[in-house]
Amino acid sequence: MLAWTMRKLRFDPRTVAYVRHDVARLVARLTLRGRLVPEHARRLHLGCGNRRVDGWLNCDVSGSEFDLDLAVGRLPFPDGSVDVIVMQHVIEHLNLHDQLIPLFRELYRIFANDGRLWLSCPDLAKVCSAYLDDRGRALEEDRRTRWPDYSLNGAPVQHFINDLFHQNGEHRNLFDIELLTWALTQAGFSCVQRVIEADLLAAYPEFPPRRDDFQSLYVIAIKAGKAQ
Ligand SMILES: C[S@@+](CC[C@H](N)C(=O)[O-])C[C@H]1O[C@@H](n2cnc3c(N)ncnc32)[C@H](O)[C@@H]1O
Repeated sequence: MLAWTMRKLRFDPRTVAYVRHDVARLVARLTLRGRLVPEHARRLHLGCGNRRVDGWLNCDVSGSEFDLDLAVGRLPFPDGSVDVIVMQHVIEHLNLHDQLIPLFRELYRIFANDGRLWLSCPDLAKVCSAYLDDRGRALEEDRRTRWPDYSLNGAPVQHFINDLFHQNGEHRNLFDIELLTWALTQAGFSCVQRVIEADLLAAYPEFPPRRDDFQSLYVIAIKAGKAQ
């Protein structure tokens, strides 16, 4: 209803999407109190979108198994209660200082010793190199192998680089390994390693592949100890 009214009043689609997202976050926050954390909450799939994975607690801001605003400040899971978390293409949707680093601190708190955080996101280094290499043509072709309907609506190919940076206003920051390692270290993670999607799928074959190493950064961060 709110979205419909905003469209009628000719707010631009980006504003409508922002308001929708923030209203969903508000509802997730208001309904969080008193909700019981399910037993399989030792494995969290955060920002799952429409990819529900069996055996995991699939969380997103709305329409998920356990709706959760990741920028809420305090997550509803007890200290040391989680073994593994997967978050693919979510961190670029959060502000660095007031949302992402506090979220990483919460993840550190809820992890058991040796808890493992698997992250992926667009890779700032790959995106910048791609612009210099060929204005992003190879990256855009790679996108179309996965999303055949993807279109730049006739714009020259470098506009794909804009899309990776901004995604219609949804993306706040891109990360390279150095920036992401710094953010994780701020939260207490001592062991951060670059991996590839195949490492994630070898550990958890139940995840549907994204086949996006060409544009993405994959990382594992461990609460304590070393990656093997
Ligand atoms: C690009 S999608 C990725 C979805 C899925 N992880 C995948 O790999 O296809 C980003 C997801 O992050 C979620 N997200 C963004 N901000 C969020 C927040 N504050 N709390 C919870 N989820 C959020 C969005 O709702 C969306 O489903």
